Amino acid sequence: MREGSHVIVLPFPGQGHITPLSQFSKRLASKGLKPTLILVSDKPTPPYKIDNDSITVFPISNGFQEGEDPLQDLDDYMDRVETSIKKRLPELIKDMKLSGSTPKALVYDSTMPWLLDVAHDHGLRGAAFFTQPWLVSIIYYHVFKGTFSVPSTKYGHSTLASFPSFPMLNANDLPSFLCESSSYPNILRIVVDQLSNIERVDIVLCNTFDKLEEKLLKWVKSMWPVLNIGPTLPSMYLDKRLSEDKNYGFSLFTAKSTECIEWLNSKQPSSVVYVSFGSLVILNEDQMMELATGLKQSGCFFLWVVRETETDKIPKHYVEEIGEKGLIVSWSPQLEVLAHESVGSFLTHCGWNSTLEGLSLGVPMIGMPHWTDQPTNAKFVEDVWKVGVRVKAEADGFVRKEEIVRCVGEVMEGEKGKEIRKNAEKWKVLAREAVSEGGSSDKSIDEFVSMVC
Ligand code: UDX
Repeated sequence: MREGSHVIVLPFPGQGHITPLSQFSKRLASKGLKPTLILVSDKPTPPYKIDNDSITVFPISNGFQEGEDPLQDLDDYMDRVETSIKKRLPELIKDMKLSGSTPKALVYDSTMPWLLDVAHDHGLRGAAFFTQPWLVSIIYYHVFKGTFSVPSTKYGHSTLASFPSFPMLNANDLPSFLCESSSYPNILRIVVDQLSNIERVDIVLCNTFDKLEEKLLKWVKSMWPVLNIGPTLPSMYLDKRLSEDKNYGFSLFTAKSTECIEWLNSKQPSSVVYVSFGSLVILNEDQMMELATGLKQSGCFFLWVVRETETDKIPKHYVEEIGEKGLIVSWSPQLEVLAHESVGSFLTHCGWNSTLEGLSLGVPMIGMPHWTDQPTNAKFVEDVWKVGVRVKAEADGFVRKEEIVRCVGEVMEGEKGKEIRKNAEKWKVLAREAVSEGGSSDKSIDEFVSMVC
């Protein structure tokens, strides 16, 4: 019965969403399901197979014509993606049914909650997949319900009174749009709407693991049919026994794997700071300059990912000035880098994938959050899991070079760094346990498979 059962997996079109949902597809395929991964794309290609033909990838259009810029207007983008999916998905489901391979469930990105009704209308179970931790989703849920009032100033204190397991959350620790709602009303609506129909969702999947959010788990499980299935890292990085699985890359970007790794090979263990701000964060020119100077002044080796669109902001002659001390690349094979023994810390924007990757690979973190869920993730990195520090920004959000130098020093050399390293090692083991055979996330995936078969 389980053998060959078909499921459709549909991530939101962004690196931070495609990566975890495609990794989850691989897990499902390894358990005998037949996933079809639908990728919303600028330039859809004909369908193809990956992962030893166990997964069908089905690219569909994002609704934009060639030459149009999808990034001009977020509302228009979301509308066109919705229209395109609502047109194509029913056709695909119909074709699958006709070919005798009726899909049982639609695993969809929680940022597109309207997909629940599409699933139900076609007789599929709807499984929402959250790419952010529970601690963030719960805040959004309370905002949606109107049971959480956002502090009026940046310095106001707020707590989620019904959650004693949360530390005291300052306005600075909340997902950014709550406090800056006027500047990003459409993004605020999208993130809060993720929880709008959660009561009706058949299965709620989250890329986290039980022990990581132990205190929240009881509550979310009492509310919704929750299965924590993370971290969705490729097993080769978590379990050496499964290391034949080399085909982990779904990256939309081509990483210069050899350049980074060769450079890291020439360095001492734990001597390098890896610096990356994910696929979306844009730092302004002054902040880039300050960060560049801070990294240089820290005296440590550093491997810095600066996306091609950002390279103009690197100070003139900087590359010559840093010489062997630093390597700047436009994209890195992040997991391979974090797993490298030369990497001693990770200066990160605390996107949830990066945070989970750093935590699962036992790399101490320096959080420099920018927006969305990142401030909350950074708070937990520093104060709850204690696997890193968070830079202190000025009132306007600017992070000074002295602060970069201080944080790098503290994590790479200071006494606090030793404690952080110990905690990082502990969480690495717990993350591995969760996804190993019989671990909590592995069992949750088994449960999911039983539920949809
Ligand atoms: C965003 C949000 O920040 C995140 O919290 C949300 O839940 C998903 O969308 P993003 O800002 O791109 O994602 O960051 P992150 O979640 O960290 O994802 C980035 C991914 O790109 C990671 O899996 C990382 O390994 C990968 N990456 C990044 C690379 O492979 N190479 C790089 O050089 C940089």
